[in-house]
Amino acid sequence: MTIDTQSLNVAEYHSFDSHLPLQPRLKVLLDHYFSSAHLNDRLQDLPHQFQHPQPRPWKPIHWQAIAPDQIVGIQLPVFLAILKGAIDTEAPIRDYTQTSRQYLEPLHPCMARFVGGVAATDGTLLELGLWEKEERQHTPALVKLYSQLTHETAIPQPHAVRQYQPSSDRISDLYRHGLHRVATEYGAACLYLWLMAHTTGPLQAVLEELVLDEINHMTKFWGFGVWAYPNSSLTQISWTVVQAMKGRVTYQPDRSSLFGTLHRMTTVLGWRTWSAANKLTFAFTCFYALRLLWRWSQELTPATLQDLFGQPSLCLKN
Ligand SMILES: [Fe+2]
Ligand SMILES: [Fe+2]
Repeated sequence: MTIDTQSLNVAEYHSFDSHLPLQPRLKVLLDHYFSSAHLNDRLQDLPHQFQHPQPRPWKPIHWQAIAPDQIVGIQLPVFLAILKGAIDTEAPIRDYTQTSRQYLEPLHPCMARFVGGVAATDGTLLELGLWEKEERQHTPALVKLYSQLTHETAIPQPHAVRQYQPSSDRISDLYRHGLHRVATEYGAACLYLWLMAHTTGPLQAVLEELVLDEINHMTKFWGFGVWAYPNSSLTQISWTVVQAMKGRVTYQPDRSSLFGTLHRMTTVLGWRTWSAANKLTFAFTCFYALRLLWRWSQELTPATLQDLFGQPSLCLKN
C-alpha cells in the first residue's frame, strides 16, 4: 500500500495552518506522520529497496520564496541557531553510514548495504547506501534554507563520529549501536516535525521533506531492531540507555553514549535560548511521537518481520 502523503498534507495544512494553536497543530502532524498506516508503509517498502535501491524523490521546492515571515511562534535567532545546529549534526554523513555498515555487515548484509552501500576489502566504497543517498541531501538543504533566511552562508562544522569498535560480542555491539541510530533518527524526526509546526509555505515544504526522510529511516531501523532483538523489552532498552549514560556526561567521540549525544545536541541546538513554551512543546512532541511509535511497534507481528528481514539472500544477487 502506498499512501498519498502529499494530498493529505495539503488538505491538512489548509485547514489548520494559521488558525490552530501550536499544540493541536503538532498533534495533527504527529497523528498523520506517526500513524500506523504511514509507518507500516515505510517499513514494507524495505524488500523493494533491498533489491532496487531508489532514493525517495523530493517534491519541487520554491526556494526563492522562502522568507523569515514564514516562521510562526519561534524567534528568528532561535530558529536560525537550531538550523545551524542541525547543519552541524547532519554532517559528516559518510562517517555515520560507514560505521553502521561495519556493525551490520557480519549479521545482515542487506541492511548493511542499505545503510552503507558496498565496500571493497580495503575500505574503498564501491556503491553508496540508500540511507546515505537520502541523508546527504539534508545538509545542503538546511544550508540553503539558512542562506535564504539570512542572506549569509552557513559553513558546516562536522563533529568527530565514533568509529567502528567491535568487541567479541557482535550481537550486543549491534544492539547498542542500533539503539543509538534509532534514537538519532527519532530525534531528528521530532525536531523537524516540531519546526514544521512553526512554519508555513515553502519553508514548511522543505521541513516536510526532512521529516519524511527521517521517519522513513527511523521506521526501517526500528523494525529491523524489533526483528533482530525480539526479546528486547522496555526494561532492557532502558537498562542499555542507563549503561550508556553511566559516568559520561559529556560527548566522547570514541565511546557510545546516548547521554553524551543528548548533551551535545542540546548545546548545538542552542536549547538555553529556547523559550519555556518552545521547550514544553518540543517535549510534548517527543513524548507523543514515542507513544505512537510504541503503539505501532506492538502491532508488528513476527510473521511480518520475518517476511521483511528473514531472507538475506534477497539483496545478494545484484
Ligand atoms: Fe538527516
Ligand atoms: Fe537521519
